[in-house]
Amino acid sequence: MAMGLRMVASLLSFICFSQISASLASYAQTQQVLYSTPAHDLANAYNGTQNQNLNLASIGSAGFASLSHPRFPNHRVRVKKSAFCDPTVNVYTGYLDVDAGAKHMFFYFFESRRDPAKDDVMMWINGGPGCSSSMGLLMELGPCSIDMQNLSANGTVWNPHSWNEEANIFFLDQPVGVGFSYADFGETVETTEDAAKNVHAFISIFFETFPQFSGRALHLSGESYGGRYLPVFASEIYDQNQVALRNGRPTINLQSVLIGNGITDISTLYAGRYEVECSTASLEVPYQSIANCVRMKTALPRCQTAMRESCIEQFDSMNCRAAVNFCDDQLSTAMWATGRNVYDISKPCEGELCYKENGVIKSFLDLPETRELLGVETPSNFSACSSNVGRNFNIHMDKWAVHTQDYVANLLDRGIRVLIYAGTYDWQCNWVANAQWVQKLEWSGQTEYAAQEWRDWIVGGKKAGEVKETPLLTFATIREAGHMVPHDKPAESLAMVARWLARKKL
Ligand SMILES: *[C@@H]1O[C@H](CO)[C@@H](O)[C@H](O)[C@H]1NC(C)=O
Ligand SMILES: *[C@@H]1O[C@H](CO)[C@@H](O)[C@H](O)[C@H]1NC(C)=O
Ligand SMILES: *[C@@H]1O[C@H](CO)[C@@H](O)[C@H](O)[C@H]1NC(C)=O
Ligand SMILES: *[C@@H]1O[C@H](CO)[C@@H](O)[C@H](O)[C@H]1NC(C)=O
Repeated sequence: MAMGLRMVASLLSFICFSQISASLASYAQTQQVLYSTPAHDLANAYNGTQNQNLNLASIGSAGFASLSHPRFPNHRVRVKKSAFCDPTVNVYTGYLDVDAGAKHMFFYFFESRRDPAKDDVMMWINGGPGCSSSMGLLMELGPCSIDMQNLSANGTVWNPHSWNEEANIFFLDQPVGVGFSYADFGETVETTEDAAKNVHAFISIFFETFPQFSGRALHLSGESYGGRYLPVFASEIYDQNQVALRNGRPTINLQSVLIGNGITDISTLYAGRYEVECSTASLEVPYQSIANCVRMKTALPRCQTAMRESCIEQFDSMNCRAAVNFCDDQLSTAMWATGRNVYDISKPCEGELCYKENGVIKSFLDLPETRELLGVETPSNFSACSSNVGRNFNIHMDKWAVHTQDYVANLLDRGIRVLIYAGTYDWQCNWVANAQWVQKLEWSGQTEYAAQEWRDWIVGGKKAGEVKETPLLTFATIREAGHMVPHDKPAESLAMVARWLARKKL
């Protein structure tokens, strides 16, 4: 029973918080499986049409148009038009083949429902590490949602609160091994800093390939492990822009980063979880037993000290892992035992990864007709979250080893706007932990931010949450939303994004 719970815990914790213990045997097995994937003919990878001025309008839906760019000789884009998901706009799906054509990164691109020729461009990614952005697409903020009630013949239903009401948006499955993204020869990406290089290549080629979008304001958005990914990806784009400027090349117009229920600064995570369970931070009456709360409060200082010494002040892989294991044993076990959804404490945990949608999305994306509509050429079936990718990141202690918040501070100091938002019912990457790290973040506007008052923000005449904002940095809660804010509060999340993109106060 305990074993069973533990296994469920490992699986469930995937979206933001993988606690899989790395086993060398299974790692070796993984590698073997990956290397036995049928190898594609590398020579084929470069038979694309050379055309750097191709317009999206000229791409058809019959098959992939293949594009390469002389400035990116190692990369190629395959793109097709698709009748997927949103019949009111142009929809494109395809692969960016990076690193000499051996890594294939799958994307969905939806033009804006408002004014594609003028609206900003957004990227959305899900977390994990290892989870597919199609979950965000079909469960949260995409133009269509997975049909859970058998209402439609095509498997999806219209989402009136899609973020493409406001922006041109692409969903990227990254790194390789996630969703429909795959590698030919078993290449893996095992750290966020490595993943950033492929994401930068993807975005560069995206804008080079589709010149009507080049120079357009770009916003990077995502949730969960995106709290680690996005600050690093944005920093890579910023730094590479400086190289491009020096060499007289075009730059990417990166404007802002939006992170929902993210894991960014690890120092406040466990203290925040204690508050969610044992204080009135999330529910009016704490739901954890008094006995467990007292035990957790006793363990918390020791957990914090161990993390500070072994993960934060000086990272030591073995000691940090021991610290994290101690913190999980003492501070997470009681939560799992409640049977509540760790992503939304107001609900029971039902279905794979606590959401019934996950299984339905997998069945839908594995249908031959869906794969054909999307042009999927990935040899394997879809999985919502890749355990291989999760395991590889975990081997490197990717979540714990780097002070990700310092990327955020550096971005802010260079004028990139950052929105950190959090649903108040999430336990995993909870709002308390996020509010605390944002408050103590060391950047040039720290004092200004600290001096701001909390205020309510309003949607449709009703309180949507609370916000603290300066021109560059905003922190907002979305009350009564879980980890996946657009899933739980679609109108509020679209209003938030609309105001953010319009540079208005929330
Ligand atoms: C490249 O494309 C041309 C024309 O479609 C075809 O004849 C040729 O066989 C292709 N080469 C490779 C290596 O696939
Ligand atoms: C959904 O509807 C179709 C017919 O439109 C039917 O064949 C199928 O059994 C239904 N599935 C469920 C789960 O109700
Ligand atoms: C799928 O069906 C629903 C309703 O049945 C419809 O609203 C939607 O536009 C359809 N989607 C596509 C991509 O045609
Ligand atoms: C994908 O799933 C289908 C249906 O479950 C199965 O028949 C097929 O063998 C699977 N393909 C791979 C590559 O696993």
